Amino acid sequence: MLPPAFYPASGPAAFSRADFGPDFRWGVSAAAYQTEGAWNRDGKGPSIWDDFVRRRGRIKRGETADVATDFYHRWPADIQSLKQMGIADFRFSVAWTRILPTGKGSINQKGIGFYDRLIDGLLEQGITPWLTAYHWDLPSALQQLGGWTNRSVVDWFTEYVELLAARFGDRVQHWMVLNEPMVFTGAGHLLGVHAPGRRNLGAFLAATHHAALAQAEGGRALRAALPASAQIGTTFSCSYVTPARPGLARDERATRRADALLNRLFVEPALGLGYPVADLPVLSWLDRYHQPGDEARLPFAFDFLGVQNYTREVVRHAPYVPLLWARLVGAAARGVPFTDMGWEVYPESLYHMLRQFAAYPNAPRLLVTENGAAFPDHPNLMGRVPDAARQAYLQACIGQVLRARQEGVPVEGYFAWSFTDNFEWAEGYGPRFGLVHVDYETQRRTIKDSGRWYGRFLAGEQVGA
Ligand code: NOJ
Repeated sequence: MLPPAFYPASGPAAFSRADFGPDFRWGVSAAAYQTEGAWNRDGKGPSIWDDFVRRRGRIKRGETADVATDFYHRWPADIQSLKQMGIADFRFSVAWTRILPTGKGSINQKGIGFYDRLIDGLLEQGITPWLTAYHWDLPSALQQLGGWTNRSVVDWFTEYVELLAARFGDRVQHWMVLNEPMVFTGAGHLLGVHAPGRRNLGAFLAATHHAALAQAEGGRALRAALPASAQIGTTFSCSYVTPARPGLARDERATRRADALLNRLFVEPALGLGYPVADLPVLSWLDRYHQPGDEARLPFAFDFLGVQNYTREVVRHAPYVPLLWARLVGAAARGVPFTDMGWEVYPESLYHMLRQFAAYPNAPRLLVTENGAAFPDHPNLMGRVPDAARQAYLQACIGQVLRARQEGVPVEGYFAWSFTDNFEWAEGYGPRFGLVHVDYETQRRTIKDSGRWYGRFLAGEQVGA
């Protein structure tokens, strides 16, 4: 029996793929740095993650993604696993330094060739490629110039995106500009736990403004270069936030500040609403990085927004946390079930975030571009990977997507994170999110029970009954 926390009573008891309608997209997501490996092969230049993993004490057990899941070499077999699971939509990212080794200027044809073959290989198998332009692996050469804190990054990024559109736009219809800008700005520039490892409020604010500009300019560059039928989106991390002590005014205000930071900072400027300064006054310091005309450059009419959700956050007023005056009360401290990341198992968060994003008056349609959970996996002697907890989590979350959809939220797709186990950033290879198990000693792949379950669900089987 699985813990009842997996099965929120609010979700539909039983459902099948048909309940989502014929046009709903079902996929899995992955990212270049977390899977490709081949970090210095065929002319690829170094990225900030290649550098960061080499800094002592930054990654658990000192692991790197030099090899990762070796997707660079193993993608043909991996595509066969996608097919086997009946997955028709695959989200991946392009490693900027594979095609522009120093971030700008000279093009590495071998890098272009890799993505050409991957895209063609997917299409040959009837799998639709969904391309993310930036999933955190900024070229080291650009970091040396200040990276996201240098305003020129907006131009560097736009040129890179134009190159992607020129080379792949004839075959790729579905595009995402940025992956979770809140994470690469916040974890990378304020908390220092992700590349480039900075802990500086000014760096965070500069990176934030430049990423928000790049988000919109990247969208515009794609729109200008791609056929009219192209679908252009971008993705956001988000977590449903609630006060630790409901009704207590200072916790309620702390919750609004956390919501502004975690869930609203990048989507609101894109929608033309500006930064959520009223709820988080420190954001007025972003003004320092504004130049005339920026206001008009921040919005872009995306075709879709990618919602990425893994947990919720419970927020408490904290007088000793400057500027935010809030802290997150972890799942362990609250005594609720949590994953290998320490994140509370709370499927309803996804429902609440879909509603929150859909509530913007000019929100475009939504896709869940990531959702999943890391649980310990133990391959058994029969060669199977029984991962009932992950399966139950995915099922509950998909149920929450259906709940939102049935209430009129325009959510049109769901991508599980992740296709295979992979390199989980600062956590290294410890947490496993995959529907497919990877034995890192041998690179052997095994479709987990959750992956087989997803396959049966996609084939039409009713679940939850
Ligand atoms: C979101 C990120 O986009 C992805 O790279 C990461 O592995 C998952 N969250 C899980 O932490």
